[in-house]
Amino acid sequence: MEVDRVQAIASDSFSTGTIPPEYIRQENEQPGITTFKGQQPEVPVIDFANEEKLVELILDASSKWGVFQIVNHVIPKEVINRLQKVGKEFFELPKEDKELYAKSLRENDSKNSVEGYGTKLQKEAEGKRGWVDHLFNMIWPPSAIDYRFWPKNPPDYREATEEYAKHLHNVVHKVLGSISLGLGLEENELKYAMGGDDLVYNLKINYYPPCPCPDLALGVPAHTDMCAITILVPNEVQGLRAYEEGHWVDVKYVANALVVHIGDQIEILSNGRCRSMLHRSTVNKENTRMSWPVFVEPPADRHVFSPSLPVAADASSSAADFRDCKVYTPSYVEDPIHISTQPSKRPT
Ligand code: SIN
Ligand code: FE2
Repeated sequence: MEVDRVQAIASDSFSTGTIPPEYIRQENEQPGITTFKGQQPEVPVIDFANEEKLVELILDASSKWGVFQIVNHVIPKEVINRLQKVGKEFFELPKEDKELYAKSLRENDSKNSVEGYGTKLQKEAEGKRGWVDHLFNMIWPPSAIDYRFWPKNPPDYREATEEYAKHLHNVVHKVLGSISLGLGLEENELKYAMGGDDLVYNLKINYYPPCPCPDLALGVPAHTDMCAITILVPNEVQGLRAYEEGHWVDVKYVANALVVHIGDQIEILSNGRCRSMLHRSTVNKENTRMSWPVFVEPPADRHVFSPSLPVAADASSSAADFRDCKVYTPSYVEDPIHISTQPSKRPT
């Protein structure tokens, strides 16, 4: 089955100066109309080397914002540059070379997985589409890796990506550990509530080609991340926006920083003390935006529940049920405030 890639649509659009109607968002979503023009509140930037205050800073940012950036995170610059280089090289390959990894080739595969090269991800509200192509690869644990969906070209894709995965453990451990301690739990409690060493890292590479009408289109429409936390490397093209106090504000590009999102699982596990932040991405007229989020999530069969509550078998749903409900149901609606998951309630 032939799928229209945004990359191809983008190059056609520049000759006409217009984009196909399915990429033109409803007015209440259009960046030209809904971008906040006033003084923007700043998304917190946290210095990872500030050991003494880390727990407090991370919990504070997770509860007030649900998104923050970290600097001095000790993943070497070269490791991140290489991750970005191989991802960019993949998307710059001729179409046929990328289509070898297309998820549509895997229709008969029983595994309900997002892995591979693709375009459409969510059920699209009112037939609208995001101005973005992507590649998904599970990068951790080794038992979850399916190299069939890892590009063989560029040849160092695998090595560069595995090297990044190795360095991520430390960041994941510190972020989850700080949230856990901040909530008054043991350092490892949150991590173990979500599967401990079985936590899965799912890498998505977003490729947003230049768009002749960036005021009308969106890359990824408004959503919360359904994982535990997301750790994201952006390129230098501004585009990530967070929904704070009724406004879409920039998550400003900070060189060498990692963006962390609190996902739905942590909102649930923290009984709503941490927020799963609503966010979206916009596109650019001149430049290609790329981003490399890694979704850190419980294994699909893991039941998610609040660590401070007894587990009632019928009161929890598995990570796979949650994913299916969220991915296959439109996750953005006219009133975006009501999308966020409802935290579980403490018994009175
Ligand atoms: C996303 O949240 O899915 C995309 C974020 C980004 O590209 O920065
Ligand atoms: Fe996201």
